[in-house]
Amino acid sequence: MAEKVLVTGGAGFIGSHIVDRLIEDGFQVVVVDNFSSGKEENLNSSAIVEEGDIREREFLDRVFNRHNIDYIIHQAAQIDVRKSVSDPVYDASINIIGLLNLLELARVHKVKRFVFASSGGVVYGEPKELPVSEVYPKGPLSPYGVSKLSSEYYLFYYHKTFGLPYVALRYGNVYGPRQDPHGEAGVIAIFIGRILENKDLTVFGTGEQIRDYVFVGDVAKVNRMAINLDLRGDSIDDFAFNIGTGVGTSVNELIAYFKEFTGYSKESIYAPPRKGELNKIILNSKKAMETFGISWTPMLAGLKTTYEWFKEKYERE
Ligand SMILES: NC(=O)c1ccc[n+]([C@@H]2O[C@H](COP(=O)([O-])OP(=O)(O)OC[C@H]3O[C@@H](n4cnc5c(N)ncnc54)[C@H](O)[C@@H]3O)[C@@H](O)[C@H]2O)c1
Repeated sequence: MAEKVLVTGGAGFIGSHIVDRLIEDGFQVVVVDNFSSGKEENLNSSAIVEEGDIREREFLDRVFNRHNIDYIIHQAAQIDVRKSVSDPVYDASINIIGLLNLLELARVHKVKRFVFASSGGVVYGEPKELPVSEVYPKGPLSPYGVSKLSSEYYLFYYHKTFGLPYVALRYGNVYGPRQDPHGEAGVIAIFIGRILENKDLTVFGTGEQIRDYVFVGDVAKVNRMAINLDLRGDSIDDFAFNIGTGVGTSVNELIAYFKEFTGYSKESIYAPPRKGELNKIILNSKKAMETFGISWTPMLAGLKTTYEWFKEKYERE
């Protein structure tokens, strides 16, 4: 019988691509999602959907009693950095308590591996060395970042104490089809929306902020491989992988890419910088490349695929 994977947040941007990938590879998939930002239209029709909130232990108990879960891929989260600053308690209720509910069930039901969506964009703070590798000192600068790093420590604790196997994937700025404009890499979805309507692009600050953008298809591939990855180690970094391309792209460069293949030609509008935004982050992802044997989708190709997807959707609606 096919193995069963629980994907939390499976109706969301990244989660839904992971679900597609798993189903393609013959897994049975159970999606847990409360549809706070996830969408029905993202859902693979072969997935079993359990609608509910990861903060509710009784709901999760029912899910685990109904299904024999082999693996958990945990994507559900409060993902808005600014929301975490304005309401850190709310952030922790989902990102910490929700995680603990799942870890307790993973322990009780002897789940074979727990794969966690961490964030390379926030756990290191503003690093002094680039590209930053997994062992670089951590220094999250927002409650969201603290919740992601704390989650890795909880996972490590469950591994050491109860033997729960796990992998933490520290994503860069993920982009691609189905992306919501509100996430960490929302800028790409926002810009595409504006370009399709031939409206002005607003850049906050100089536009020289650098991010490591990674295509969602690559992230889904790595998650699928991670469920079979057996790791040993003595620190959270031994269980963590930076999932980025190792290439930094500025907002100005992003706009130049779009101009190259869309025909968009408007001058951008520059607005004052947004408080609390990182200046530069580039992830050293050699460890992931060696372990998963993955090569990253080049930016231009990924942007074109993303643009085409949004264009088709725009023309349909
Ligand atoms: N998008 C990025 O660039 C990025 C970067 C680093 C890390 N991450 C992490 O990747 C994961 C997926 O992010 P995404 O960009 O796909 O976001 P998303 O908002 O599209 O997906 C999150 C999903 O979780 C669901 N969800 C939220 N709260 C829930 C709750 N309490 N109970 C049940 N379901 C709940 C939402 O409805 C949604 O479907 C998150 O853990 C996020 O922190 C994303």
